[in-house]
Amino acid sequence: MKLLAGKTAGVTGAGSGIGRAIALILADAGAKVAVTDMHEAAAQQVRDEIIASGGEAMALHLDVTNQNEAHDVVVNMVEQWGRLDIWCNNAGVSTMNRFVDLTSWDWDFNMNVNAKGTFLCSQVVVKQMLTQPPDEDGIRGRIINTASMAGKRGNAPFLAHYVASKFAVLGLTQAMAGEFASEKILVNAVCPGYVRTSMQERELQWEAELRGVSIDDVQRLYIEDTPLGRLETPEDVAKVVLFLASPLANFITGEAINVNGGAWMD
Ligand SMILES: NC(=O)c1ccc[n+]([C@@H]2O[C@H](COP(=O)([O-])OP(=O)(O)OC[C@H]3O[C@@H](n4cnc5c(N)ncnc54)[C@H](O)[C@@H]3O)[C@@H](O)[C@H]2O)c1
Repeated sequence: MKLLAGKTAGVTGAGSGIGRAIALILADAGAKVAVTDMHEAAAQQVRDEIIASGGEAMALHLDVTNQNEAHDVVVNMVEQWGRLDIWCNNAGVSTMNRFVDLTSWDWDFNMNVNAKGTFLCSQVVVKQMLTQPPDEDGIRGRIINTASMAGKRGNAPFLAHYVASKFAVLGLTQAMAGEFASEKILVNAVCPGYVRTSMQERELQWEAELRGVSIDDVQRLYIEDTPLGRLETPEDVAKVVLFLASPLANFITGEAINVNGGAWMD
């Protein structure tokens, strides 16, 4: 039997990169997946990929900064599938600049999507999970946040505001894990390193400009900073999310698992 047979999962920012890989791996493990993204066409493409390979999925528009939309997604999932077992707060954004040049727009943009978006979605998800009976493993629901190595390591050049937003995600992960442990809602996070996605493509370009070097030079820096000696793939992250989403992780909560090729160890 598949690891997530009979389970339902929602993934934010699932139209590309890490979120797409999470949606695909959860569906492959047997979960019915709500593929959500603020770019609905991208979410629809991932939904189609899942259905083409024999899985079950729906695509829904969700801007994580809009709690009404998050509420609608949860209602939709419960109407269609009866309950909500797994929720992945993955949507995230970044911008880059020297600290002295950061604007309030940079701060608000990063904090609103990465930190506040995680809070807004988690709140409606938890309200639903609290109404559900525990599953066969005694678990009412599982929330998995895509934080970052930058949620543990403040020394990330040109990313002070992003670092603050990801430290916030890890703080929220622990606070929620503590508050809802007695209700058997598990809340964990993954902390990726240098992952090859469209976010990284944008960052390579910005960082090259800020340092006055080439994009290849920056990419070399990322690889040199990674003891396992290569850039990370979205699938490297998704496999750890699958573990946290599964019964293999029934006794883990409040944890933030590094998946970064050794770039940060703690
Ligand atoms: N790429 C990396 O190196 C890296 C490293 C550590 C952590 N992360 C984190 O992983 C997560 C995914 O990043 P990625 O690299 O796949 O980026 P990406 O840009 O490839 O994908 C992000 C997705 O989120 C969506 N999105 C953006 N704002 C949204 C919003 N307000 N509401 C809903 N969806 C929104 C985008 O449309 C996109 O589909 C983010 O939280 C990011 O901070 C990325």
